[in-house]
Amino acid sequence: MSDTTEHSALMDQTYRYQRLIYDVTRKYYLLGRDHLIEGMNVQPGERVLEVACGTGRNLSLIRNRYPEAQLFGLDISDQMLTTARAKLGADVSLAQGDACQFEPKALFDVEGFDHVILSYSLSMIPDWQGALTEAKRHLAPGGRLHVVDFGDSAGLPGWFQRLLLAWLARFHVSPRDTLEAAMRDCRADTDRLVVQGLYRNYAFYGQLTKDDAA
Ligand SMILES: C[S@@+](CC[C@H](N)C(=O)[O-])C[C@H]1O[C@@H](n2cnc3c(N)ncnc32)[C@H](O)[C@@H]1O
Repeated sequence: MSDTTEHSALMDQTYRYQRLIYDVTRKYYLLGRDHLIEGMNVQPGERVLEVACGTGRNLSLIRNRYPEAQLFGLDISDQMLTTARAKLGADVSLAQGDACQFEPKALFDVEGFDHVILSYSLSMIPDWQGALTEAKRHLAPGGRLHVVDFGDSAGLPGWFQRLLLAWLARFHVSPRDTLEAAMRDCRADTDRLVVQGLYRNYAFYGQLTKDDAA
């Protein structure tokens, strides 16, 4: 079995039942997702891709907030995509694929995106640096990459950090302490990068704007 097939099977197994209670339960601990959506400032007609879109929770809110955007979602888990399809209907294009290597032309018949989102997914993707590079690769010139995920929780008590890590491990989630550094590595000299710790660094938020001549 290839690494991708194995990871896809693991995600299906993790979410087979969890997907049914995902939106209700995750709203209490996947913090900063609404902050990301508010900061996107999507213009009419722009293309938005959520990589690892899960149940489609974010895409549904983005559709409400920016009704004239063109929306796309990709996930490695067919189980999650089943829930996303039921929620979003036919006006959002969804496809099964690996965040670390995908071709928008083959999956969605488009060349690139004005916005790409990675929301609480890098902490579940083994080659998460590869996924970051791949997301940036598919940005149109001047496009923006929006990232939210677990931070290092440096502002929170040690016991809370230990409990959180133990809880997340049950779902194969590993916060990436070097996420900010990886976003800085991803940034070309002419790109713009904004990073922010949210809720005492419980969550990390980053927005990278690709040079519009790139
Ligand atoms: C915690 S959920 C986040 C879902 C959504 N982005 C959100 O913010 O609610 C993580 C998602 O990442 C997906 N995922 C994990 N590894 C992936 C990969 N290599 N390629 C694409 N999706 C992946 C999982 O199937 C799952 O749907």
